[in-house]
Amino acid sequence: VKEFKDPTTIVVVGASGDLAHKKTFPALFSLYYHGLLPQRFHIVGYARKALDLEGWRSNILLNLACRVLDQKDCATKMEEFIERLSYMSGQYDSAEDFAKLDAYLEDLEDRQPTGRLFYLAIPPNVFGSAMGSIKASAVAKNAWTRVVVEKPFGRDTESYMELRDQCAAHFQEEQLYRIDHYVGKEVVQNMVVLRFANFIFEQLWCKENIRDMHIIFEENFGTEGRAGYFDQFGIIRDIMQNHLLQVLAYLTMERPKSLHAADINRVKTKLLSEIMPLKAKDFVVGQYEGYREEDGVPEGSVTPTFAACVMYINNQQWEGVPFFLTAGKNLHNRKAEVRVRFKKGHSMDFFPGEEVGNEIIIRIQPDEAVSLRVVNKVPGLAKDLAYTSLDLLYKDAFEKESKDIADAYERLILDAIHGEKSLFVHDEQLRISWELFTPALKELESEDSPVKPVLYTPGTKGPPEADDLRHIHRAMVEP
Ligand code: BG6
Repeated sequence: VKEFKDPTTIVVVGASGDLAHKKTFPALFSLYYHGLLPQRFHIVGYARKALDLEGWRSNILLNLACRVLDQKDCATKMEEFIERLSYMSGQYDSAEDFAKLDAYLEDLEDRQPTGRLFYLAIPPNVFGSAMGSIKASAVAKNAWTRVVVEKPFGRDTESYMELRDQCAAHFQEEQLYRIDHYVGKEVVQNMVVLRFANFIFEQLWCKENIRDMHIIFEENFGTEGRAGYFDQFGIIRDIMQNHLLQVLAYLTMERPKSLHAADINRVKTKLLSEIMPLKAKDFVVGQYEGYREEDGVPEGSVTPTFAACVMYINNQQWEGVPFFLTAGKNLHNRKAEVRVRFKKGHSMDFFPGEEVGNEIIIRIQPDEAVSLRVVNKVPGLAKDLAYTSLDLLYKDAFEKESKDIADAYERLILDAIHGEKSLFVHDEQLRISWELFTPALKELESEDSPVKPVLYTPGTKGPPEADDLRHIHRAMVEP
């Protein structure tokens, strides 16, 4: 990682909330621990509540961890880090309060030009007012100002556009860093390398050879006390429209001219705009039993906690290939992976009746891995054949590094400090993503929707109708 010399102040707005405690501060600590924060840095928490500094610091301390557990200096580093945090309270919509923050930061920065990174760990309904206050009173003097924001970026195209206009009224696109933490995951980053740095894969990656792809997100727990929030969005908005769609873009985009943000964004945006419009009939939705009884869920809620859908991409490389996305809570497993199934062609002469031929499985989490399913002759005098797997398990192949894989937030915050935008979601991509999903969401949420949520038992694979959807579309490619 290159050394970054600009003095930097990081202001976590919403510093008393869940996101800040669970993700932002632990990621900042890890960067600190690994010596990756700029040499001159300040971290300031800002939120509405007037909090006692020591109490706030000890709450943050509770969530800090070292990735490699046996590090002896961990506790000392945590103490050092905590001592460097300061806190200020103020309203989000108050330019005066932000002017006080500014005066405080000026002192902290010794009136030297210092870049300011504002991390908004606050709900989107206050993004606009907080950005307005920052712009009016707290931008950096003679140095860069950047603002990091995180989903939900609206509920549909219309609300996204409103939010976008509110943000754009105060900051330029270059200053806005929109996080989709799936993009920051190690294995998702490796997809670009696997595809474009390996001649064999690049040649195979097209409709002539690939039968379908399946991007799977499964959690073996429910909404974990967030049901009130979750119910307003549902699994399609929570996981599919953002995380899984971004993964799909990395899996299917054209080769970018370079790895620079502008080139990557160009091919991602192009790909997203080539996905065929989605309709309710392209989905299977489900809800786990017991969801409606959770705190914060309105009676009779039909919000899906499971969804499976099929997408097609209207370009030369992918025409006719089905892309399946599945996301669900309270299922039998916790995992995120991609399965790329190849056409069977004549290979099945050896294995009549086998449903799956060659397949690449890219496991995003847990236990990062890439494996390839191939046929081999079983050793021995008989002529038996068997499918076996060529496995690359990160924990074996990268024994040392895999113990210390950075959390997605660390990578993303570090990139935002460095001004490196390639892993952040461009405004245009979000607009297209919403345009893609909004009509289907409206249809699914209407009273006469042709597709209704199917109840499923927690701890299972979810509604079997999702398997049927895949069978039907697979059969259209290759019976
Ligand atoms: C978040 C969703 O964006 O991603 C959560 O809001 C989900 O509902 C989480 O649990 C999953 O992230 P990860 O990194 O744990 O797979």
